[in-house]
Amino acid sequence: MPHRPLAPAFDAMSDDYYRDPAVHFAAVRDDHPVFFYPWLNAWIVTGREDVLTVLGDWTEFSSSGNTATIDVPPKWRHVVPQDLMEKMIVGTDPDLHTLHRNIALSGFTKARMEALRPEIERRAHRIIDAFEASGRGDLMEGYCLELTTQTLLAHLGLGWEHDAMMRELRGLTARILSSAQEEMPAEVFDDVWERFASAFSILVTLVVERRAAPGSDFISEMAAARSRDGEYALTVEEVALHVTEFALAGADTTAQAMANAVLFLDKAPEALTEAIADTALWINVFEETLRRRPSSPFASRKAMRDLELSGVRISAGDMIWVSLASANTDPGWVERPFEFDIHRSDPADHLAFTHGRHTCLGQNLARVQGSTGLKVLFERLPSLRPVPDPALDFVRMALLPVRASLEVTWDTRDIERQKKRVKREMELTVVAKNAAADGVVAIELAHPDGGDLPEWSAGAHIEVHVPAATGGVLLRQYSLCSSAERADRWRIGVLREPASRGGSRGIHDGLTVGSTVTVGWPRNNFALESSPRYVFVAGGIGITPVLAMIERAEAAGAEWELHYGGRTRASMAFVGELERHAGRVHLVPQDERGHLPLTQIFADVAPDTLVYACGPEPLLNALDAALAHWPEGTLHTERFAPKKVVRSEPDTAFEVEFALSGETLTVPIGASILDVAEERGLTTLSSCREGTCGTCETKILLGRADHRDSILTPREQNAQRSMMICVSRAERGCDRLVLDA
Ligand code: FES
Repeated sequence: MPHRPLAPAFDAMSDDYYRDPAVHFAAVRDDHPVFFYPWLNAWIVTGREDVLTVLGDWTEFSSSGNTATIDVPPKWRHVVPQDLMEKMIVGTDPDLHTLHRNIALSGFTKARMEALRPEIERRAHRIIDAFEASGRGDLMEGYCLELTTQTLLAHLGLGWEHDAMMRELRGLTARILSSAQEEMPAEVFDDVWERFASAFSILVTLVVERRAAPGSDFISEMAAARSRDGEYALTVEEVALHVTEFALAGADTTAQAMANAVLFLDKAPEALTEAIADTALWINVFEETLRRRPSSPFASRKAMRDLELSGVRISAGDMIWVSLASANTDPGWVERPFEFDIHRSDPADHLAFTHGRHTCLGQNLARVQGSTGLKVLFERLPSLRPVPDPALDFVRMALLPVRASLEVTWDTRDIERQKKRVKREMELTVVAKNAAADGVVAIELAHPDGGDLPEWSAGAHIEVHVPAATGGVLLRQYSLCSSAERADRWRIGVLREPASRGGSRGIHDGLTVGSTVTVGWPRNNFALESSPRYVFVAGGIGITPVLAMIERAEAAGAEWELHYGGRTRASMAFVGELERHAGRVHLVPQDERGHLPLTQIFADVAPDTLVYACGPEPLLNALDAALAHWPEGTLHTERFAPKKVVRSEPDTAFEVEFALSGETLTVPIGASILDVAEERGLTTLSSCREGTCGTCETKILLGRADHRDSILTPREQNAQRSMMICVSRAERGCDRLVLDA
């Protein structure tokens, strides 16, 4: 037997290795570029050149050793045939590998994965919604694995009922692959195979069903793929087998990388600050994380002949484990190998996705999902950090070590702060569309999976991406008028405007039951303050926010009355729902009773009363006049259109400092603060751009604003705490504003 050099300092099961595999390798690499590791009965290759040699030549270094020794227990071979395991993509060589890989690859092309980015972003927000209030938790289970598993389920066309199975398959597939190379106690081995066989038979049934009735998912695509001779390219068992591989590679590895990124960023706070300020850097963060710590630290091959690597003789049939973690930090190839540097000239130049014919076919998904997942996580919770000295909680397998948990904490004050800064959207389905009056349609929206929608409060509105007749979308805001009792449904009421710029027409004509529509999270610029008594005034479609307010006032046991005016009785929406409040509701159709008698209604000042009104400009102006003798702060309004703002002096240019980025910009005459911020690429949220939606509200840190919006009350405007940067400017005499943006 040829001499087998050992590296006694190397221990793939030690805490030191699990803490940082690359650092552990650095201690042995110089003296032992290639060494024998008896515990695995395999050679370990650490130098980058040798690693590239092994990965680049499948004729001399075969992947077949990865699966050839997987031993399916006889009692499960009727479910999982023994020869099937050799067809795992990770364990095949050309030509079989090429056939299976090409079919699998078609589901993970760059273009397809990029198209998933908005959906992944919305999913990430939704997951964070569920845990953000806790301030502490396990990032692996609570976020990283949740995101990657949900994405994979959606891509494969698997419903929620298969969620637990896919999560279990992740660990089981890793265990089975490791069993080919590492000893496993007999009772663990039996348990793993029993559970794997059970999940596998469910998958086979699913594939059979998809083959018979294909959907638009990737399992259906694989099941339907044909070879040149017109036969199915893969058997149903082969399709099911690849799904088990995706469960591991598609969910676990990216989740591991996201958790590792959080750990690296904790030690590189300047990189975190930069990525939060410039979201294009999140892909660099993800790549640098993979360079420093590949999710799979090794790839394994079998030597097909006697050969030499770095002067060490290796015999035909020997297993070789190449260290991707070591190759990525080889000082002969990379400068400052242990520095977490997100500005490397080619951030993707690493071997975490391996090299050669077995280059990871899910790398496009990993990149899109990893960078998007991190971006959203820190957008929402910028103070999130690992707990000091987090537990080394790993499922310890040398080939595929799996981090089981990562405890993190964050400041829950992030939640309110970030609501103003992060635009959150989701795809909802139109589940009902009914006439609510002449020219008014009520649209009900629900999440496709039927779950609860984000919380909202009376007076809130949502931004709807309305399909425009000319293509593209129009952004429109509509008040929520659903009942708080249906947390899984939102309702909006939309009037068809004769002078529509396309928004109401798009809703009336473009949406039908079953349509998918993108909507933003609820925002509330018209929140109902607590009071023992309310007077509500609604004009036309202005009834929508008031409906939710009435329900809230009822629930709180407050006294209330509604004065609701409209052109005709038939044009007044939701009157049927208001009938049960007879005595409190005063309907005033204009063609029958004229205008709302506001002077009469508000003749006498009533103590402890707040007035909430929504309607057209003339109604709100009349209300302003009718309430002139009431205490300041009584009237709260929401407008359909921006207030007319007239200034006797012409506008002047002024300077704005954006405190978060440190940028100071000049706002010229004719441009808004929002315009110059966007032009400079600063992150600012906006929607209506006319001062009516509140999306761009920004905190004032220094200086005074000339408020021109239609949202803030006079008292709020005087307080000078925030401003709508789409319309408001610096007050005359204030040359410089400092904003919290
Ligand atoms: Fe709507 Fe500024 S973008 S208020």
